[in-house]
Amino acid sequence: MCSEKEYHELAKSILQIEGNTSLEQIKGQLIGGDFFDLAAYFPKQFIDLLILDPPYNLTKDYHGNRFKELHKSSYALWFAEVIDLLIPMLKPRSTIYVCSDWKTSSLVLPVLEDRFFVRNRITWEREKGRGANQNWKNNTEDIWFCTNSKQYYFDVDLVKIKRKVLAPYRFEGKPKDWTAEEDGNYRLTYPSNIWTDITIPFWSMPENTPHPTQKPEKLLAKLILASSGKNDFVFDPFVGSGTTLVVAEKLGRQWSGIDINMKYLCWAKKRIYLAQHDPAIQGYRDGVFWERNSLPQQRKTSFAGGRSKNIQGSLLE
Ligand SMILES: C[S@@+](CC[C@H](N)C(=O)[O-])C[C@H]1O[C@@H](n2cnc3c(N)ncnc32)[C@H](O)[C@@H]1O
Repeated sequence: MCSEKEYHELAKSILQIEGNTSLEQIKGQLIGGDFFDLAAYFPKQFIDLLILDPPYNLTKDYHGNRFKELHKSSYALWFAEVIDLLIPMLKPRSTIYVCSDWKTSSLVLPVLEDRFFVRNRITWEREKGRGANQNWKNNTEDIWFCTNSKQYYFDVDLVKIKRKVLAPYRFEGKPKDWTAEEDGNYRLTYPSNIWTDITIPFWSMPENTPHPTQKPEKLLAKLILASSGKNDFVFDPFVGSGTTLVVAEKLGRQWSGIDINMKYLCWAKKRIYLAQHDPAIQGYRDGVFWERNSLPQQRKTSFAGGRSKNIQGSLLE
């Protein structure tokens, strides 16, 4: 992902903090260290959109930093501590998304319900993973959608899905909610809380990194577009390979985040640099989200001279 020379250079740009910070100091910065040590140094009420993708309760090696599976009640306490440290950073109208797998989903929910308005559970199909001989293949993850108050930002028009219409219905001779395009008939549909148009990054996708739990850019694009406006502040206390912040950069939001692993922060920094030169998001083109594996159709219907360079990218998404 990075050459030795790149690690050396990129590491210099990672912010280290040892005392209280201002918004100006953290804006556009990747911060190295343990979230639990650093949380108290952040400004109050600066976050418009919090995206939380914490280690799930699995023993996992994050390139040298090991998370060890905890007893369920200890994981719930660990998660509650994370949330309680973040609450002072939230604005009254903040939105909070929390990623989880099927096991941690039920542990984080009571913590969220005690503190926020829980508005929905999004379940997304990972479409990748190991099959099991004596169990159902684990193929979904949850994202809890919460807000800090009853008032919050949500723009559904920015996250509609472009779907091929198989049985185009006409009313009084005119297409009902669909349009005829060069390569077929399409409809923009309202997104539900089951997302089947996303996969975790494949090796062949330009966004892929060696991070063991990297989220897809298309998924983050939906969360960020629906729940933040231009220049809003997006915060991610568990940056990993940087997907949240990369997408925030591509979509013109302000951002900051923390990770304990310097190597990951270097990967994230490199991705953010690349994002500044190519803001394309695979699966999101010309302002709409496309169904999975629709690159051939996207190629045909995309506006000439569109801004997406990764149209030459992977055929899988
Ligand atoms: C689930 S991963 C995040 C993946 C990320 N969303 C992405 O797309 O790459 C969780 C991350 O939390 C980091 N982490 C774990 N404990 C941490 C801590 N106490 N403080 C800061 N980061 C931590 C790990 O290094 C790991 O990269």
